[in-house]
Amino acid sequence: MEKKDKRLLLELNNVSSGYEGKTIINDINLKVYDNDFTAIIGPNGGGKTTLIKTIVGLISPSKGDIKWNTNSDQNIFGYLPQINHIDRSFPISVLDVVLSGKLSTNNLLKRFRSNTKEEALSLLKEMGVAENAKQSIGKLSGGQLQRVFLCRSLINNPQLLILDEPNTYVDTIFEQELYEKLSLLNRRMAILMVSHDIGTVTRYVKQVACVNKTLHFHSMKKMDHYENCPASFLYHSNAPLTILKDHKEISQS
Ligand SMILES: Nc1ncnc2c1ncn2[C@@H]1O[C@H](COP(=O)(O)OP(=O)(O)OP(=O)(O)O)[C@@H](O)[C@H]1O
Ligand SMILES: [Mg+2]
Repeated sequence: MEKKDKRLLLELNNVSSGYEGKTIINDINLKVYDNDFTAIIGPNGGGKTTLIKTIVGLISPSKGDIKWNTNSDQNIFGYLPQINHIDRSFPISVLDVVLSGKLSTNNLLKRFRSNTKEEALSLLKEMGVAENAKQSIGKLSGGQLQRVFLCRSLINNPQLLILDEPNTYVDTIFEQELYEKLSLLNRRMAILMVSHDIGTVTRYVKQVACVNKTLHFHSMKKMDHYENCPASFLYHSNAPLTILKDHKEISQS
């Protein structure tokens, strides 16, 4: 169960899931350990968001099981949903969105600690959106909204940070900052991040999982070769490209 003294946080065993009886993702096996940094990539409609929603409990798996290692007082996960899946007409302020991260994992009747609002404002400041704190989320740009939901996912100082395309709308300057921030956060929490940006993420993540109905693993440490993977990209850089191995040759260590 344990890998090199790292604690297993999350385990998916032969998980299938979908909508209204239709299977979208099939037979998924996944383990997440303390301090893992895993990117989930794959084509549009391949089931990445369905997998994430299944992990966070928004969809029940039709087969298989999901085990969380919750022997701790610390909140187990923080979740940033894919922005185009969010109802922006909902009349809620930026600050309340961040504070709602507390409600999702704590007892609803428990009052916020007195410094919770300060923590939320401090996160908004760190992400450069403090001046929007009192605004309704409907008035934000996509990039601002993404930063606000990043604050929400961090408010509980989770053990596992789950991000569904946190960089779709953010500008290139904040995108670099975001990856640097995630690398720092990764010193104290595991990260599972859906991304289309395979060129950049491979510089930061420790492993890549390709999701297209099923899931295949590639370890960045082994500098695997890229073949038969249902993703493509055009990438200009002075940095070397990472080539991944055939899916058939890889399993998660
Ligand atoms: N609420 C839903 N009800 C029915 N089908 C859905 C629902 N949400 C997604 N699907 C279908 O499930 C499939 C996988 O969608 P999903 O959003 O998981 O893909 P994705 O890999 O996240 O794609 P993208 O890269 O575009 O975000 C698609 O065919 C989609 O039409
Ligand atoms: Mg998606």
